[in-house]
Amino acid sequence: MKIQWGRLLVLLVALQLAMAALAQSPPSSRNSTRIWRTLTGNAPVVIARGGFSGLFPDSSTFAFDFPNSLNLPRPISWCDVQLTKDGKGVCLPSLLLDNCTNIQEIYQTGKKTYTVNGEILTGWFSIDFTIEQLVNNVTLIQGIFTRTNAFDATGSILPVEYVGTQTQAPGFWLNIQHDIFFRQHNLSMRSYVISVSRQMVVDYISSPDVAFLSSIGARFKGSKTKLVFRFLEVDAVEPLTNQSYGSLLKNLTFVKTFASGILVPKDYIWPTNSDNYLEPHSAVVRDAHKEGLEAYAYGFSNDVPLSHNYSYDPLAECLNYIDNGEFSVDGVLTDFPVTASEAVGCFSHVNPNTSDKGKPLVISHNGASGIYADSTDLAYRQAVSDGADVIDCNVQMTKDGTPICLGSIDLQADTTASSSFINRSTTITDIQMTAGIFSFDLSWAEIQSLQPVIQSPASRGNGLIRNPAYVNQGKFMTLSDFLTFGKENSISGILIRIEYAAYLAEKRGLGVIDTVITALHDAGYDNQMRQQVMIQSTDSSVLTAFKQKTKYKIVYEVENAISGVQNMAIDDLKGFADAVAVRRSSLFSFHGSFIEASTNVVKTLHLNNLDVYVFVLRNEFTFLAFDFFADPTVEIHNYVQGVNVDGLITEFPRTARSYMRNTCYNASKSKYNVPLIVPRGLLQVADPSALPPADAPAPLLKVPDVVEPPLPPVAAKVPSSSPGTGSAPGSSPANNGQMRACGTLLSLAFLLLLWSTSLVFLG
Ligand SMILES: *[C@@H]1O[C@H](CO)[C@@H](O)[C@H](O)[C@H]1NC(C)=O
Ligand SMILES: *[C@@H]1O[C@H](CO)[C@@H](O)[C@H](O)[C@H]1NC(C)=O
Ligand SMILES: *[C@@H]1O[C@H](CO)[C@@H](O)[C@H](O)[C@H]1NC(C)=O
Ligand SMILES: *[C@@H]1O[C@H](CO)[C@@H](O)[C@H](O)[C@H]1NC(C)=O
Ligand SMILES: *[C@@H]1O[C@H](CO)[C@@H](O)[C@H](O)[C@H]1NC(C)=O
Ligand SMILES: *[C@@H]1O[C@H](CO)[C@@H](O)[C@H](O)[C@H]1NC(C)=O
Ligand SMILES: *[C@@H]1O[C@H](CO)[C@@H](O)[C@H](O)[C@H]1NC(C)=O
Ligand SMILES: *[C@@H]1O[C@H](CO)[C@@H](O)[C@H](O)[C@H]1NC(C)=O
Ligand SMILES: *[C@@H]1O[C@H](CO)[C@@H](O)[C@H](O)[C@H]1NC(C)=O
Ligand SMILES: *[C@@H]1O[C@H](CO)[C@@H](O)[C@H](O)[C@H]1NC(C)=O
Repeated sequence: MKIQWGRLLVLLVALQLAMAALAQSPPSSRNSTRIWRTLTGNAPVVIARGGFSGLFPDSSTFAFDFPNSLNLPRPISWCDVQLTKDGKGVCLPSLLLDNCTNIQEIYQTGKKTYTVNGEILTGWFSIDFTIEQLVNNVTLIQGIFTRTNAFDATGSILPVEYVGTQTQAPGFWLNIQHDIFFRQHNLSMRSYVISVSRQMVVDYISSPDVAFLSSIGARFKGSKTKLVFRFLEVDAVEPLTNQSYGSLLKNLTFVKTFASGILVPKDYIWPTNSDNYLEPHSAVVRDAHKEGLEAYAYGFSNDVPLSHNYSYDPLAECLNYIDNGEFSVDGVLTDFPVTASEAVGCFSHVNPNTSDKGKPLVISHNGASGIYADSTDLAYRQAVSDGADVIDCNVQMTKDGTPICLGSIDLQADTTASSSFINRSTTITDIQMTAGIFSFDLSWAEIQSLQPVIQSPASRGNGLIRNPAYVNQGKFMTLSDFLTFGKENSISGILIRIEYAAYLAEKRGLGVIDTVITALHDAGYDNQMRQQVMIQSTDSSVLTAFKQKTKYKIVYEVENAISGVQNMAIDDLKGFADAVAVRRSSLFSFHGSFIEASTNVVKTLHLNNLDVYVFVLRNEFTFLAFDFFADPTVEIHNYVQGVNVDGLITEFPRTARSYMRNTCYNASKSKYNVPLIVPRGLLQVADPSALPPADAPAPLLKVPDVVEPPLPPVAAKVPSSSPGTGSAPGSSPANNGQMRACGTLLSLAFLLLLWSTSLVFLG
């Protein structure tokens, strides 16, 4: 049979056309079958600004190489190109070198003043130095105050060519921010960039300057290099067109004539109001995609106050740009690429039906107190809707004997008591050294006349406040309200915490144990309910009383940090407890906000059939060790899969629940993994002189810590309280050292080895 070459050719051409059409068809025509709503349908890219600049000095070798050592989608290396006196390029985050290098110490007379884009700037500029002078003598330092300076002086300034060829990143992005300035100094960014592109693959070139992008357009026509137009603030004026970036955004047809993508500040897409709450998203991504432009977003960072809608969870923010059900940006530019890579590799397109069977319990701490005031109806409702398995009531007694749920026995912490009941303020050293307004000095009716107050434990001095629009929202709950609420909702259990039982019995005539047992009984929580009841206390005599009278699960809370448990103390613990709740610092010990070691606490307790819960988890980055990358999900992962805790006691149940459902949860079945840290991994490369002195190790838990005298009987009469003095809030502990000094340069290979994901975590 004769082959019909003509027909075959036609068929082949048609097939090719069809495939090309498929590859280029706009998202709307195939959205039902596509996973990602990016322009191409491919996963969005993660772009690491200056490498992992949230942790290491911007544009240092460590910063560029570190993310490649993790088992996550690797980020593209972003280099802000600056030109030197001799027309060479270096990667440095800003025109001014004094913020990001130690140049002031090296070239003390190098300070100059120049006009840049109409603004007068004084400092050290790359155009006054040769590349030799910069690369050989100047080292990079952390320019951002909230970040650790422990890696300063570990790396020198890098030539663009070095970054483009030596790092293992899957892509290379050059950003040209100040072409005009360099041109004024007779340095041609255009020639430089073109010469670089002849030596290596440059995947992206971005600039806020239409003239620059147009000038290189012809050279890159038909090449794989994507030209991306970077938008600045809406009011800033683009020099060539003399139009604001805001108005150019309405003229994407024009942008398409010289660029294949746009890079916009993240609030172009999800704007926020003046209180930092998100408003509905704009149409920027949709409009760009319609125009055939890719849309990238910039400004992502874990260690800044995020919009309150994200509850201090930077992963939630990333997901809102890439997996919101309506659109996905084509890439995010971030200082913390780990978080964005987790979002792409493990947390997008999660099946909400994922089974949480056998996974650690998510236990609320005063409800979802990261979002609403402690122990209010709203905080409990939020905890349930955010996926808490267990909700908690920290029982306090009112003067008239009503058990209520409240975070603190001192009403000043969670209520407006200090403005209306300051005359009830007393100092009771059995409870605390400072004066307080105690729940047992006010009646339930008086407490109900107060307003709840949301606590912001991370806010001192740095503005990390929680949910300001909801500061005083919600209603206080009695224990019996709480128990009713618990039964009405599908949760697997409730946790009742009891403190100061001995004081309340002896000095106030309030029998909290019997009160709680009666309330549980009245609410129908007998011992074999479908919902588990847990009783938690730091007082073993309280727990022993419950052990004798009920069959509830007994949780012993270890008040202070420990580094281990003495054998004899374990025997005592086993006598009354089913589980032990420990501080975070009992599982990992820290040195200057870095992780020094992991303890054997969980292992020891597990060997003795005791469950371990860790408290208290909070999302704000100031609570996180640097090893966790200012990412609460990384912390959770390390407590869950690094040390194997059985429960997380958290103020942000949603973050914990979202973690339990991630598609990388089972490391052995997953292509990607959330990073497991290696204790001392970062400390080993940190500069010791930038760290505070190491703390003495925490003590072991010993018998006298566990054994308490038996509870006193409940006194018959209630003595009246005496007025006391005002109190002063304690000050927060200093975070990290402020010293700067030179450290030794450790080999990168060593660092990468330490972080290799094949290493088994030293539980
Ligand atoms: C696909 O996109 C079109 C246009 O954007 C929209 O009307 C339609 O509902 C989408 N279909 C699905 C299944 O998402
Ligand atoms: C650089 O230093 C100047 C002056 O100290 C400061 O105003 C500016 O905010 C710094 N820039 C950065 C990016 O840290
Ligand atoms: C800087 O480096 C150059 C070339 O390596 C060297 O000749 C010069 O002495 C160095 N200058 C300073 C101030 O260290
Ligand atoms: C740039 O070159 C021009 C022409 O050669 C010269 O007139 C001008 O002074 C130079 N400018 C600078 C800043 O060196
Ligand atoms: C878009 O911008 C170009 C360049 O500034 C201008 O010539 C054109 O008129 C603009 N188009 C619209 C619709 O604003
Ligand atoms: C740029 O636009 C502004 C206002 O639109 C106008 O006043 C100014 O003269 C323009 N500048 C140039 C160089 O065209
Ligand atoms: C952000 O939170 C505020 C306050 O809860 C809410 O009114 C607003 O709708 C939220 N924004 C988005 C985009 O969900
Ligand atoms: C989740 O479960 C519901 C109810 O069983 C089912 O209708 C839905 O399709 C499931 N979703 C996924 C993504 O599997
Ligand atoms: C304390 O203050 C409350 C509210 O202002 C008031 O009702 C009460 O009478 C005061 N009690 C005393 C003992 O002064
Ligand atoms: C992961 O999957 C394997 C194989 O199915 C299973 O044996 C193991 O228990 C799972 N691990 C976790 C943590 O779920």
